[in-house]
Amino acid sequence: MSVFLDALSGREPAHMPVWFMRQAGRALAEYREIRAEHSFDEVVHTPDLTVEVTLQPVRRYGVDAAILFSDIVTPVQAVGLPVEIRKGIGPVLDQPIRTVEDLDRLRPLEPEQDAPYVFESIRLLVDELGDTPLIGFAGAPFTLASYLIEGQPSRDHAITKALMRTEPLVWDGLLSRLADLVATHLRAQVVAGASAVQLFDSWAGTLSPADYRTFVLPYSRRVLTALDDLDVPRIHFGVGTGELLGLMAAAGADVVGVDWRVPMEVARERIPLDVATQGNLDPTVVVAGAAPALAATDDLLGRIGPRHDHVFNLGHGVLPPTDPGVLAAVVDHVHEATAR
Ligand code: CP3
Repeated sequence: MSVFLDALSGREPAHMPVWFMRQAGRALAEYREIRAEHSFDEVVHTPDLTVEVTLQPVRRYGVDAAILFSDIVTPVQAVGLPVEIRKGIGPVLDQPIRTVEDLDRLRPLEPEQDAPYVFESIRLLVDELGDTPLIGFAGAPFTLASYLIEGQPSRDHAITKALMRTEPLVWDGLLSRLADLVATHLRAQVVAGASAVQLFDSWAGTLSPADYRTFVLPYSRRVLTALDDLDVPRIHFGVGTGELLGLMAAAGADVVGVDWRVPMEVARERIPLDVATQGNLDPTVVVAGAAPALAATDDLLGRIGPRHDHVFNLGHGVLPPTDPGVLAAVVDHVHEATAR
């Protein structure tokens, strides 16, 4: 069995499970070696490469779950939108989606036809991973909509939030289409063998609770409840969402991911007791070195306390300058300190 699935299924795990968001990627020399030979798109579209980079952090860190190497824009690219991931910038779409006519550019996803490499990779990974669970994932409707409406990463999401307030038909049309696309993509990942899913609403924290409830929650709920029958843990995560944690649980999550800005014991009070938690180590503390990372790990373990349903993680993705040895030391430390 898996400590990750135990913790998320009401069983007492042998130790607290650990994995890291963006655990695959530029912090690892073995990832940079592959990227020296292949573009990011090539890695995502070639199952042998996807499998290799997904396994790299499992070998290096001894984490308790793997996460499929892919991107939140992959299923959007798969239905024909030319979103390009620019190095050091992020997803870019030269002709953004802003009108009712633009909505027709987003057709429904036929997973196995449109993105066969994703599901082939999952099947290969499940074979290779044995008892280590594989997490599937997707971007949430709001976070994807922000990239498609802005046309590029945005700090304030001002164009997105203006459209949200002034163009109800475009907003509903776009978020509904994205919700269905994402639900279809997540379902297909589970059918192919993923043991859990994470919905990344990375930029939801830019919304007030009232706006989140009105304009975003209904579409994220549509995604999460579409998976009700699948019986896999659904993790719901965003950055800067301290004021939204209760609403993100209410959207239909089994696990709420918490960034580092909220003390974990405060986050716990905002999340219903039957919903598990994940997070919330500051990703910069592991960049600072082993001593501060282990001190912060102990502090966090104290705040989590005796509950069995916390998944240890960073509060956002691994930063490229992170020393992999520090992450490996954090994993060992959590395993030892929480062993039962
Ligand atoms: O290890 C893992 O977590 C799995 C792989 C994964 C990637 N992206 C790989 C990737 C996951 C889960 C994501 C999700 C993702 N992608 C999110 C949500 C998570 C979050 O960080 O909030 C977002 C917002 C994106 C969009 C995106 N894709 C950005 C902002 C970037 C970085 C651009 C850059 O060069 O800084 C990407 C590219 C990307 N996706 C990289 C990786 C490892 C870097 C690619 C490279 O140059 O090798």
